[in-house]
Amino acid sequence: MYYAPLHDRSVNDPEAYWMEQAESLAWAKKPTQALGKDANGSDRWFVDGELNTCYLAVDVHVENGRGAQAAIIYDSPVTGTKRTITYAQLQADVAQLAGALRAQGVGRGDRVVIYMPMVYEAVLGMLASARLGAVHSVVFGGFAASELTTRIDDAQPKVLLTATCGIEPSRVIEYMPIVNDALGMASHQVDRVLVLAREQAGYAIDGVTQLDWAQACAAAEPADCVNVLATDPLYILYTSGTTGKPKGVVRDNGGHAVAMRHSMDVVYDVQPGDVFWAASDVGWVVGHSYIVYAPLLTGCTTLVYEGKPVRTPDAGAFWRVVEEYRVKILFAAPTAFRAIRKEDPEGALYRDYDLSSLAALYLAGERLDPPTQTWLDELTGLPVIDHWWQTETGWAIAANPRGVETLPIKQGSATRPAPGFDVHILDDDGVELSAGEQGNIVIKRPLPPSCFPTVWGDHARYQSSYMDAFPGYYQSGDGGYIDADGYLFVMGRTDDVINVAGHRLSTGEMEEVVAAHPAVAECAVIGVEDALKGQLPVGLVILKDGVTESDDEVVQALVRDVRAKIGPIACFQTAHIVARLPKTRSGKILRAILRKIANGQDYQVPSTIEDPAALTEVAELFN
Ligand code: COA
Ligand code: AMP
Repeated sequence: MYYAPLHDRSVNDPEAYWMEQAESLAWAKKPTQALGKDANGSDRWFVDGELNTCYLAVDVHVENGRGAQAAIIYDSPVTGTKRTITYAQLQADVAQLAGALRAQGVGRGDRVVIYMPMVYEAVLGMLASARLGAVHSVVFGGFAASELTTRIDDAQPKVLLTATCGIEPSRVIEYMPIVNDALGMASHQVDRVLVLAREQAGYAIDGVTQLDWAQACAAAEPADCVNVLATDPLYILYTSGTTGKPKGVVRDNGGHAVAMRHSMDVVYDVQPGDVFWAASDVGWVVGHSYIVYAPLLTGCTTLVYEGKPVRTPDAGAFWRVVEEYRVKILFAAPTAFRAIRKEDPEGALYRDYDLSSLAALYLAGERLDPPTQTWLDELTGLPVIDHWWQTETGWAIAANPRGVETLPIKQGSATRPAPGFDVHILDDDGVELSAGEQGNIVIKRPLPPSCFPTVWGDHARYQSSYMDAFPGYYQSGDGGYIDADGYLFVMGRTDDVINVAGHRLSTGEMEEVVAAHPAVAECAVIGVEDALKGQLPVGLVILKDGVTESDDEVVQALVRDVRAKIGPIACFQTAHIVARLPKTRSGKILRAILRKIANGQDYQVPSTIEDPAALTEVAELFN
């Protein structure tokens, strides 16, 4: 099989292509129609199909004789715990938790918010919600209480699943104060909170609005799978946009299951029974797709790793896990390998382990920088695959399709579009650009299965953020070019989204927090390149007249505010007090130029600039 004809067919005859892929799933009711439209006019896949995603990820494997195979390996260097859960055990556990959720009134279409660390039970929570036809929304543990509140108010869950703590190498993070704060600030009232008691942090569960996880499960009747329409939502995952309010990306059940399964064949070249490890967190899309759904839908063994690439205990942690569980595919963010390389530049720890099980490394979450790629190439001698995707798509838009044909690797490129993705480069006026010319990366509709059909509760935002700029195309928010061989080079966001240690964050949201400080008259937050984390946010702040605090005091307060309101993962550590900011005559801050100055790139002074001297002041800061 070759990539080019496969991809051509997938975009020229998408309905036939995807109906064929849908054959690989055990539907409750097979779809007879591939593509339809919903009331909003969004493209929807497999409109009359019915299925249950948890059944396909768990029960079907037990029925097909995989009951004794490891489904999930939980490896937690931060607690010194290791556990292997077979598919049969997973089925029993998930049915029990689903029963506990059902006892709290959770049913088809109800939302369940999950604010949990990287433990087995977080995956159970997702699967149990799917089992009932409910909709989960996982919130990453590094987010602060107000971020959790925003998501609770938007998703309006019946039940919240949490744990008494998460564990960072440096400290135990008590979750209950955060959860209680978030619930206190929320307008929406959650019926029940199920709390997983962990021995690292005690908490007096009240037994009324808060229930002990283990007791609730023990008291429950196991619940069976509830079939839903392919177009019913499986989950909502909030992601950063340009404003302070995160967008609830909606994922359906049917298209998602088909694309997940297909991606394991085409992109990762993985078979049932293989051990697949995405070293991410269930709070991110990589965790949803490649810790939970794709490996389990494929009958693989997946890893839930509660640790870091370094410091738990050292930069050999990833290699130890690969050896111990015979991992075939390791998927991580480039920043993780930059952290490993920083501590073990010669790869001495790598050579301590038997890594013969490893077939390839996959990287995503941010651009794979050529120095990291070269280091990994030389160290491992394995294919080092960069692939580009987004929360909105749920799987790779561009990748090296190793399961079909291994294409030559070009550093700096995510290789070629994945099946179903018809990728184009347009200028700001919507004119198609030629090979090598840089512009907006867009995808021609219909988007393939798994791509989101709407923003939860706000379809107008879906249209305005993604679909209106280039009619007939999805606007990815990334810029880049396609070279003469059809390789895609993703060069960075064209909006206010930044990528800090593989985490997607909004500078607009940080600006809202900074601007809310009483001493601040105006501000801009921009992403500045960082050798370890890819980018770091930096604030440029104009103070109000008459402020009595010192510049340093204000900066410290801003750092505290962003940490408290968004969370430690924002990594907002630096702000500069400036006298003025470069603006257009109509008063718009020239953020794109600020980004270029801060990153040492060439820029042109626009004719509309109000005060060119403001540029000089900022340039001096970053010299
Ligand atoms: N819960 C609570 N706090 C968290 C957290 C979580 N789940 N994850 C991170 N944090 C905290 C960290 O403890 C740190 O706090 P500090 O400011 O008190 O030190 C802060 O958020 C910043 O974390 P991070 O940016 O992760 O920095 P780090 O120095 O702890 O680790 C890396 C650096 C590169 C090792 C780490 O970021 C990493 O492993 N990145 C990979 C990310 C990834 O897999 N992304 C998924 C996309 S594929
Ligand atoms: P997220 O939605 O959190 O997965 O973040 C998606 C964004 O991360 C994309 O829009 C890109 O800006 C960036 N990104 C992810 N993978 C890559 C990659 N392989 N190359 C370049 N940028 C990437």
